[in-house]
Amino acid sequence: MNITAIRGFNDILPGDSDVFRLIESEAGRVFSSYGYSEIRLPVVEKTELFSRSIGETTDIVEKEMYTFPDRHGDSLTLRPEGTASAVRAYIEHKLYTLPVAKLYYTGPMFRCERPQKGRYRQFYQVGAECLGDDSPRADAEALSMLMTFFERIELKGATLQINSLGCARCRPAYKERLKAFLAGRVEGLCENCRRRVGANPLRALDCKGHGCIEATKDAPSIIESLCRPCSGHFDSVMAHLRLSGVEARINARMVRGLDYYTRTTFEIIAEGLGSQNAVAAGGRYDRLVAELGGPETPCFGFAVGMERLALIIREGVPVRPLGVFIALGSPAEEKGAALLKEWRDKGLKLIEDFSAGQLKNRMKRADRLGARYVVILGPDELGQGVVTFKDMASALQEKLPWDGVPGRVLQGTTGAVES
Ligand code: HAM
Repeated sequence: MNITAIRGFNDILPGDSDVFRLIESEAGRVFSSYGYSEIRLPVVEKTELFSRSIGETTDIVEKEMYTFPDRHGDSLTLRPEGTASAVRAYIEHKLYTLPVAKLYYTGPMFRCERPQKGRYRQFYQVGAECLGDDSPRADAEALSMLMTFFERIELKGATLQINSLGCARCRPAYKERLKAFLAGRVEGLCENCRRRVGANPLRALDCKGHGCIEATKDAPSIIESLCRPCSGHFDSVMAHLRLSGVEARINARMVRGLDYYTRTTFEIIAEGLGSQNAVAAGGRYDRLVAELGGPETPCFGFAVGMERLALIIREGVPVRPLGVFIALGSPAEEKGAALLKEWRDKGLKLIEDFSAGQLKNRMKRADRLGARYVVILGPDELGQGVVTFKDMASALQEKLPWDGVPGRVLQGTTGAVES
């Protein structure tokens, strides 16, 4: 058997998992300060939920879902995103009896895309959904919350691109205008966009194919085709973003790959990711709850791609230094057990070396484990109430009293005497 992982289904290895944990905990902290509560959603749902909400003619539903029949013949799908599940839960548990429901979630999503840097078949999102508020201030508040979260985790150089996709009143007219515009340019479109031009002409605006970019260069702008209420909503979102100090760049070609959006849509584009450069995306979806059988409920939400975020911020994430403890002889081992408990309780990250043999070899093992420092307790140290503390980066060594070890580690590992 070949036991390597299926391509695109990644392990999150030690080190990276610290970055993921930081993202999740900071997101939880920031989102809950805005009144969001965590919801834990299942990773599988009935297939119909996704095809009806994301849209039959989207890439996700047409070719990216992991769909299978269960033992009873029901068609199930590994969730490709979290919004549909959040809406299903909102309707199922009648969360609409609240004036507003603010939910956030984290977890794996599944899309059978071609794996590349920043694009995987299993990937993690942290998402937030505000259900039951139609105010443009709700859009601006959620965006400002997202930017605050990015500030907290020190993401730099991210830009917010924003658009409006209008509503059931103005979008059909825009679609017709765009269809008429594309009618004379169909030859230039890629096969995918040509096939979808009747049902979903907006996708051509977002397509990365050279022919599609060229063919849609002078296409009519959706922003200029909005009805009065939609354009008023958009202007108000922009004004409230300005008031919150959030910079946004209008991108009238951004149409998103999911069909449920109405009015505001956005993407956060980050540097250093290559072609998969959106770290977060979302927008308003005022029709979805009603389309899935709930009451009319205006909503706004977003999701952050955790792998993409981790790729950018991981260099700057502080890692607690790892120490290795070496006891020489059984009396030191006995005292060591008590000392280790005390130091671990104070927050130190320590591995005890259980190997026997020469100290030199045990030091080598500590080095291979990536230890930043080694604490040695031998018979001499035991008698004097001290340890030998070695800083592995500088090779400096010093004697420390037992209760001085936590302070030494937390204050850093410089200033010791060379061994
Ligand atoms: P989305 O744009 O499909 O939106 O995904 C959101 C983010 O997830 C992307 O910007 C990206 O960072 C990350 N992402 C998507 N696909 C992959 C992949 N294959 N590999 C790695 N990262 C990926 C949604 O999912 C909507 N549910 C967002 C939303 C919430 N809209 C309203 N509420």
